[in-house]
Amino acid sequence: MSQQDPVTLMKQYVGKAAADRVQSGTIVGLGTGSTTAYAIQYIGERLQSGELKDIKGIPTSFQATVLAKQYGIPLTTLDEVDHIDIAIDGADEVDPHKNLIKGGGAAHTREKIVDSLAEVFIVVVDNSKLVERLGSTFLLPVEVIPMAMTPVMKALEKLGGKPTLRMGVKKAGPVVTDEGNLVIDVKFDVLENPAELEKEINNIPGVLDNGLFVGVADIILVGEVIDGQAKVREIL
Ligand code: A5P
Repeated sequence: MSQQDPVTLMKQYVGKAAADRVQSGTIVGLGTGSTTAYAIQYIGERLQSGELKDIKGIPTSFQATVLAKQYGIPLTTLDEVDHIDIAIDGADEVDPHKNLIKGGGAAHTREKIVDSLAEVFIVVVDNSKLVERLGSTFLLPVEVIPMAMTPVMKALEKLGGKPTLRMGVKKAGPVVTDEGNLVIDVKFDVLENPAELEKEINNIPGVLDNGLFVGVADIILVGEVIDGQAKVREIL
């Protein structure tokens, strides 16, 4: 694990720290992104070794589904369980109140459903994700039904945002989410009141959900490299 670049090392350590908190016999929300991918890998390794038994995962994306299958984690759905014990997921920004911006992987709608249902939601990030104010380093993702793209963009401008349609990489045209929708990334020069903005954006007809996660996270695990040593800090 120690021959990696610092960011990869932080992601691995924090992913492992979160995976270590999963207990046998529980329902586990499986997040999306490069950091959570390590948590899914380590949960799978704990299952293979016999240290962990009888867990079921609820994936937040196609990526999480594929990784869970690859690492041998049995999956279930929200139709089959009545609760989620723990969810592990990444974030693009974390503020001092444990509010988040998510959706860098275009999976925030399903992530918010799963993460907010969990009794304990653990966020796994490297320390570059900690910000004083949301929106300072990352645009706010908004998932929108394709036919509503133009009116939603106009409504976002009225709220003071600068919207751009997220375009694919190695794919012509826009990013299409796992649910078949589009993502509009919005720049807000000042994002004063995340709780209010989250609701205002979700009130625009055609919007499924936006990447503001206010009051959802319980624990933030932060991967850091200090004097060449990887460490994990917990923010409660
Ligand atoms: C997926 O839509 C996102 O919410 C991710 O959880 C977030 O972008 C963090 O991803 P990384 O761990 O890859 O930075």
